[in-house]
Amino acid sequence: MKVCLLTGVSGTIGYAIARALKSSGEAWYIIALGRRPPPPSITEVDGKPPERLPYDSFLKISDMTDEAAVSSALDGHFESLKGSDDTMQLDRLDLLINCAGCSLGNDPIADVSAEAFRTVMEVNVLVPFILSRYAMVKMAASCGGGRIINIGSIAGESPRLHSVPYTTSKFALGGLTRALSVEGQHLARTTKTDGDGIVAVCQINPGNVRSSIMSAEEAARREREEGFVEVMDLANYVATVANLPNEANVLESTVMPTRQPLVGRG
Ligand SMILES: NC(=O)c1ccc[n+]([C@@H]2O[C@H](COP(=O)([O-])OP(=O)(O)OC[C@H]3O[C@@H](n4cnc5c(N)ncnc54)[C@H](OP(=O)(O)O)[C@@H]3O)[C@@H](O)[C@H]2O)c1
Repeated sequence: MKVCLLTGVSGTIGYAIARALKSSGEAWYIIALGRRPPPPSITEVDGKPPERLPYDSFLKISDMTDEAAVSSALDGHFESLKGSDDTMQLDRLDLLINCAGCSLGNDPIADVSAEAFRTVMEVNVLVPFILSRYAMVKMAASCGGGRIINIGSIAGESPRLHSVPYTTSKFALGGLTRALSVEGQHLARTTKTDGDGIVAVCQINPGNVRSSIMSAEEAARREREEGFVEVMDLANYVATVANLPNEANVLESTVMPTRQPLVGRG
């Protein structure tokens, strides 16, 4: 059994990633961390609740930028396993997937407040930093390495108009990914632990995926003009990367609808 820590499970892509990991052939125990569990609009199929949710534990954190609260919830989770039959199997961390993210609208710069900019940077960059630091130490101590997958965005490669906070945050996430991938190559030194091994760190950049991160009008426009990638196609790709041996990395990849404009000049 391998253990995964996943954020964003209350959202479209995070929930799909949990489903894909669970059906990927590897035995994954998934700890979901977030401010609320997935709503019925995501979990129910044809109005019916799922027989089983695609994660094993849910750790509720009202403010994921609160590093003490995050550490305490995770420490508490691993501590609660002590003495149980599950200790040997589950007191470890093999994979972190940072999927939670927000854009807080698509406003022209004149209408973007510093507060909105700060929130987007905190959710999209600071939270992955806090969780990656925790994960690297735990991975070094518990299973000699692991993997971190950051869910970036095509916006981290090329901005859309009116996307200053979101684009800035996803470019910054790319910097975090690269810096962490170097840290992960020198795990004992960077985590100041006795554990050795390596942590493979990578970023997967989705293009358009239907979700509540965009307004209904924007979704309709993209449907007409750019198309969408199916969320399970993206999620199955994330699971494929997650199941690679830690010695192999896919540093950065983009999963997008084929006709979404990104490269080329017509
Ligand atoms: N959909 C796309 O076209 C697209 C394209 C490129 C990249 N992405 C990236 O994919 C990831 C998932 O997006 P999605 O499309 O699945 O969007 P979504 O359905 O809106 O889900 C967003 C997830 O992030 C969490 N989140 C947002 N703000 C948060 C906050 N302040 N504190 C804690 N959690 C917060 C949400 O939790 P709550 O339920 O608590 O709000 C939810 O779990 C994001 O990183 C996004 O940037 C999406």
